[in-house]
Amino acid sequence: MPALPRAFGDLRMLALNARDKAYAPYSNFQVGAAVLTRDGRQFSGCNVENAAYGLCNCAERTALFSAMAAGCRPGDFVALAVIADTPEPVSPCGACRQVMAELCDGEMPVLLGSLGGATRQTSVAALLPGSFKLP
Ligand code: THU
Repeated sequence: MPALPRAFGDLRMLALNARDKAYAPYSNFQVGAAVLTRDGRQFSGCNVENAAYGLCNCAERTALFSAMAAGCRPGDFVALAVIADTPEPVSPCGACRQVMAELCDGEMPVLLGSLGGATRQTSVAALLPGSFKLP
């Protein structure tokens, strides 16, 4: 694995620990995520599933919504990491990409990871070009 900037290494570890908290009895697919704020705070999240499948919440949204509930506002975030047990770095779902586009700057780096150590750095805008925004 290539060397990651320290902040990304920390976020990856936080996401990894959050993944252990996943409640995923239906998919058995555990995901963890973590976000870093401009003032150095970190928030993590895991996926939380429900017997009514449509209510499942992804790790990325749990992390971002936890941060918002703690008082963070759009633009406060500087990086997000997400990790799952995938052969390639995990690819965030469309709903999470739209939420990232709402709350994070387009150029904000996003680190996609896998348990095996594969990583890919991308950005919010690259993950969802043409995201929906109200006029
Ligand atoms: N999941 C995430 O937590 N993040 C993603 O970006 C993709 C999918 C979760 C949702 C569900 O609990 C499980 O993975 C299987 O889709």
